[in-house]
Amino acid sequence: MTSSPDAALLQGFQVVCICRGIRRKTIEQAIRAGARTIPDVRRRTGATTGACGATRCTGPINAMLVAAGGTPGPLPGANGGGTPRPGGGFGGKPRRY
Ligand code: FES
Repeated sequence: MTSSPDAALLQGFQVVCICRGIRRKTIEQAIRAGARTIPDVRRRTGATTGACGATRCTGPINAMLVAAGGTPGPLPGANGGGTPRPGGGFGGKPRRY
């Protein structure tokens, strides 16, 4: 939980998608701009396209989506959460703000 403006600022610099180096503030911007699902966030930021197959970042992104009234996606490997390409990732070109 955020307790001060400085804490909120620092939290924005937290890297959510480690594989692609996508920070929380970038994902928050994508959600504010209209992203409501994992594929929306993926298209706008490139998050979830890294070598881990989105196993590390899907959970935190889902939590951010739910907090914003969006729809969480399946965790990778659970109920068809996606099949990473050979060498990792789901494809797609990372886009940054
Ligand atoms: S941490 Fe996001 S794809 Fe690996």
